This record gives sequence, C-alpha cells and structure tokens, in this order.
Amino acid sequence: MSAKQEDLTVPRHIAIIMDGNGRWAKERGLPRTEGHRRGADSVQEIVESCGQLGVKYLTLFAFSTENWKRPKAEVDSLMKMLERFLKQKTSEMMKQNVRLQAIGRLHDLPESCQNQLHKSIETTSQNTGLTLIFALSYGAREEIIDGIKSLVESVEKGHLDKGMIDAEVFSKHLYTRYYPDPDLLIRTSGEMRLSNFLLWQMSYTEFYITSVLWPEFRREELLEAIRDYGRRQRRYGGVGDI
Ligand code: FPP
Repeated sequence: MSAKQEDLTVPRHIAIIMDGNGRWAKERGLPRTEGHRRGADSVQEIVESCGQLGVKYLTLFAFSTENWKRPKAEVDSLMKMLERFLKQKTSEMMKQNVRLQAIGRLHDLPESCQNQLHKSIETTSQNTGLTLIFALSYGAREEIIDGIKSLVESVEKGHLDKGMIDAEVFSKHLYTRYYPDPDLLIRTSGEMRLSNFLLWQMSYTEFYITSVLWPEFRREELLEAIRDYGRRQRRYGGVGDI
C-alpha cells in the first residue's frame, strides 16, 4: 500500500541516530568512508520522504562531540562530505521547500564547512515545509551545560528571576528552543542507547530501534517505523483510556 492510501499517524518531529555506516562497509570489504557516502544517500531519501509525508521536523545526529575522537582521516572525510552534501543539495532543498537548521557547537567545525552551513541555512530560511535540523558537533550534556550557563547569565543580568525557572523556561535556553520535542526516535543498526543525543528533549519520545544499517534505511524502512509509532499509546505518565 502506498503512504497516501494508508492512514498513517505521522509524527510531527522525528529524530534519528544514523548508525551502522562502518559495519555496512566492513560487511562488504569496503572502506568506512564508502559506508558514509552511502549513508549520505539515505539522508537524501529520508529527507525527501519526510517532506512528502508531512513530517514538520527531522533532526539527524550527523556528528557527535565524541566523533572528534575518530581517526583524523575519517573526521576530515566526514567534514568534506558534509560540506559537499550541503553545497550540492541546497537547490534540492529549495525545490522541496525544506528549511535547514543546525544545532551543536558549530564553531568546532572547519571554517569552510561553517561557511557553507550558514549559506545553506540562509538560502533556505524562508521555506515552509520540512525543517531539517542537523546535529553537528552535538552532545546533549554539553547542550545542557551551555543552557545552564545561559540561565545563570540571565539571572545575573536581572532578566530572569530565579524563582521563575521551570522546565519550560529551561527549554528556552537549549539549542532546540525553536522546535517541539521529538515524537519518535529512530536508531538504526540495533544499538539500544541514546549516545548523548537530545537527553532533555526525549523524556516522552517513543523509541524505534531497527537492526537495519543506516545505508540501507530508506523510504520503506521509514514507513515501517511510522506504522509502528502509530500503534503506540502515548500516555505522558497518565493512565490513558481505561
Ligand atoms: C554512524 O556510522 C554514522 C555517523 C558517524 C554519522 C552519520 C554520517 C553520515 C550519514 C554520513 C554523511 C552525512 C551527511 C549529513 C552528509 P558509524 O561509522 O558509527 O557506523 P559503525 O557503528 O557501524 O562503525
């Protein structure tokens, strides 16, 4: 059945931990960079599919703060791939009405990568379809620390009363302040962990873990995750229908 004929409950915000590029390459006797290259094709297909399905926000964990520990050659290649992807796909994003955003310690990225990122963000800023958020040099603990520093500064400057701090106010000091919390987290390649991704924002997010490796996660696998999400009963700590 096509997605159109099917009555899908489409999540407003999907977050994805794109894992398994290295394993996909290893299984085929290919260099890890080839896995990342094929992973970039999955990114393209999933962005397009989310836009068509009416998902409003898609956050992709593209590079973590921990990923800097990988061999320099792999890091360099990932940065080049990201820059090339942005350069080549910005016109596609314009056609598909996709608005690009980014979260993380973006100043850690190589300068040419930062420049291209800001150019693509600026070019797509008026688009009204899917908001695609790349998490780059992103770590949730780092984000929370940055959020606390920003809160303390607001209190010290007298812009905020300490007694007013609650979960909603704190959320406004995170990188994700402009976006709703994710409804669905997808993690590919079977690992059952959060790996320092959106720790604060995923308090009530539904998790979907698949053994499919990221380079093979395409439209049909996405639809399967959304179908599974549609069968969940979200209770947010309440009792739901009894
Ligand atoms: C995990 O595979 C993947 C990443 C390091 C991040 C995702 C990167 C891409 C999809 C490449 C291109 C991205 C863009 C945005 C153009 P892994 O290397 O951890 O796999 P493994 O666990 O099997 O080794």
